[in-house]
Amino acid sequence: MDSIQVQGGTGLQGTVRIQGSKNATLPILAATLLTGDESYIGNCPRITDVYHMENLLRCLGCKVNWENHGLRIQSSSICENDMPAEAIKSMRSSVFLLGALIGRCGRITLDYPGGCVIGERPINWHMSALEQLGVRFYQDACGLYAVTEGLHGACIKLPFPSVGVTENVILAGVMARGQTCIVGAAREPEITSLCDFLNCCGARIEGMGTDCIHIWGGRPLHGTRYRMEADRIVAGTYLFACIAAGGSCFLEEAPAHQMAAVIHVAEQMGAWCDISPKGIFVQALKKHPVLNHLSTAPYPGFPTDLQSVVLSVLTANEGECLVEERIFENRFRIVEELQKMGASIQILDRHRVLVKGGSILQGTHVEAKELRGGAALVVAGLMAEGNTVIEGKKYIYRGYENICRDLQELGARIVSV
Ligand code: UD1
Repeated sequence: MDSIQVQGGTGLQGTVRIQGSKNATLPILAATLLTGDESYIGNCPRITDVYHMENLLRCLGCKVNWENHGLRIQSSSICENDMPAEAIKSMRSSVFLLGALIGRCGRITLDYPGGCVIGERPINWHMSALEQLGVRFYQDACGLYAVTEGLHGACIKLPFPSVGVTENVILAGVMARGQTCIVGAAREPEITSLCDFLNCCGARIEGMGTDCIHIWGGRPLHGTRYRMEADRIVAGTYLFACIAAGGSCFLEEAPAHQMAAVIHVAEQMGAWCDISPKGIFVQALKKHPVLNHLSTAPYPGFPTDLQSVVLSVLTANEGECLVEERIFENRFRIVEELQKMGASIQILDRHRVLVKGGSILQGTHVEAKELRGGAALVVAGLMAEGNTVIEGKKYIYRGYENICRDLQELGARIVSV
């Protein structure tokens, strides 16, 4: 069986510790390849995407071991074995191996990376940015081969603040001769984590967290110990789960300093939030005020990864809300599933839906088709009358260590079957 069952109608109460950040961990694991040394990455989330990356690092010849909820990685000898196509295609983050292996070995053969079915997800900007650093690409229907005779610094202007492209340029840029400047860089906290990790390894990177990042390439790198911050998207999921189900929760270690836009929307939707360095306390207020418009945007805007979760909560809110998805072009696949539960949502086009609130969702069989949409269906199940069965839990476990255990700790009636 591959499903999660939720019995709705129970408010949430208590404390849950937020796991380490998926989107920060994956590029940092790829970055350990650059050091040729031993690193320890603490507070790694035990999720499928991390297991896939662990597998890929082993295929490349790294010694990788779990120790106290962290990964010890020794990357001194790399062999350029063929990496299993299945693992490459199973997640988008295998694209980080482009920047990391070009930096370490000067060449790489890679199947096209996969990932969630939330949009077209091309890699054209990755390729054109790396070409500016001295990489040549050859590709066919199966994958691509990249090679360089020596990376050199460049000033790279990004057409859009892509998270993955910014990270790939950083990975290659620290190994390039001379200075690299990324203009129009993404500002996500996960990029700051990657730069902090690399700086701990001996790199010199400045400007992370702004749209202009400077890298002084070619410095010798060494291994380090680094602890992952908590996952802002998991924290946001549980924050909205609390609004959906009612009650009050403490989200231990939730990185409130990275969540201003999320907390602002949560407050508009009827939450009272108290933030501290230890986490976020959230209390659902009885009456849900009206949110008329929500638009996703690159950081520091509202994250696309929480759009589906908010969609679930909006089905019960008062009034109408226009939800605009500005990052991906296929991120409303959950709408059909919410409609099966009785939600009133109209798809206007690939980027906009209109949610008519006030529905009382009914438990039924629904299907998770991707990671964040799957988590949003769990949240919908908490709000629904009766029993909701969510098929496709494997997608949810790509990013959530144990969503059932976490929500059980808060008193939800939820089981994995
Ligand atoms: C990362 C996150 C993902 C999040 C997203 C946006 C990881 C592992 N994943 O994904 O959870 O939802 O940022 O915050 O960190 N694009 C192109 N060409 C390219 C690259 C991107 O057209 O070469 C487009 C994409 O199709 C998308 C947009 O740019 O429409 C943004 O993508 P990007 O910021 O690159 O997202 P990811 O790094 O894939």
